[in-house]
Amino acid sequence: MIDLDPLLAHLRGSALQPWAEQLTQRLAGVAHERLHGRFSEWRALLDRLPVLAPGRIHLDQPMVGVGDLEPLDEVARKRLEASLQLLHPWRKGPFHLHGVDIDSEWRSDWKWQRLASAVGSLQGKRVLDVGCGNGYHCWRMAGAGAELVIGIDPTQLFLAQFLAVKHFLGEQWPVYLLPLGIEDLPPDPEAFDCVFSMGVLYHRRSPIDHLLELKSCLRAGGELLLETLVIAGGAGNLLLPEGRYAKMRNVWFIPSAETLAGWLRRCGFRAVEIVDITPTSVAEQRRTDWMRFESLADFLDPQDCRRTIEGHPAPVRAILRGIKR
Ligand SMILES: C[S@@+](CC[C@H](N)C(=O)[O-])C[C@H]1O[C@@H](n2cnc3c(N)ncnc32)[C@H](O)[C@@H]1O
Repeated sequence: MIDLDPLLAHLRGSALQPWAEQLTQRLAGVAHERLHGRFSEWRALLDRLPVLAPGRIHLDQPMVGVGDLEPLDEVARKRLEASLQLLHPWRKGPFHLHGVDIDSEWRSDWKWQRLASAVGSLQGKRVLDVGCGNGYHCWRMAGAGAELVIGIDPTQLFLAQFLAVKHFLGEQWPVYLLPLGIEDLPPDPEAFDCVFSMGVLYHRRSPIDHLLELKSCLRAGGELLLETLVIAGGAGNLLLPEGRYAKMRNVWFIPSAETLAGWLRRCGFRAVEIVDITPTSVAEQRRTDWMRFESLADFLDPQDCRRTIEGHPAPVRAILRGIKR
């Protein structure tokens, strides 16, 4: 499904080597038991992508991507655009690949900007991004100097999008995406310098177990960056929607930022900080040519944009940071 050899070579002799060696077996399990019905179609599409000489590569700018040494002619550019459109919907981005601008549903660069002030230096760090989508933020982490970035996400379309981007950016970058959920990882690596979990906690039935799983990936003194939906209010406030939330079926716990900070401390994180709280706007999450399904504007009450269509508080997201004791 993916070639793990470059990652294993990267980790040879490191504290993560024994952990990484177990990944081969886990990925084989996914390839046999959970292969998406369209994966071979996506693989064939990836194999047909043109090989183009890269111009300047941008991992540290809002539009992650690569310019051209020589601009593609319009026919070739349109052909490339049509190929990348076959991987619709592009939820995370934006990307710029040889003259094709992928205007994704989310302005993921805005989240990165909010995070950037909170994250300590990533220079030389080993980073795990849990629920990384198509890997947009993984590229930004590499652009910020991370020595290694492993993203995990069980959605195989997002792996195909990542591989398309990697095809054009080149194999030299220490950025890997594994089509695994956090529950599929070999346990307790306790070796990452920094772990990100963004947009995942509210999908987990047991948020405390999620925090403990994240902690078990970090070395002592390592840093957790957590981003999730929150509600207003102080410590103890919490929403557990009985039905859908913003049309999503799989939303479980939406704590207040203070409640979440308490959970982090209880789970063994110190120096817990609420770094940012920002309402999600219809400018940040919206329908585009690259994501033509419903988006945030369709999930809000048309009479009162402070409420979801079900009457819950409209989405607000917080970023929290903590250090593993
Ligand atoms: C809301 S998206 C967030 C993507 C990205 N982290 C961001 O903040 O833009 C949540 C992601 O979590 C992934 N996900 C769902 N269940 C997961 C699990 N058990 N382990 C890891 N990722 C999971 C989904 O496939 C999806 O891409």
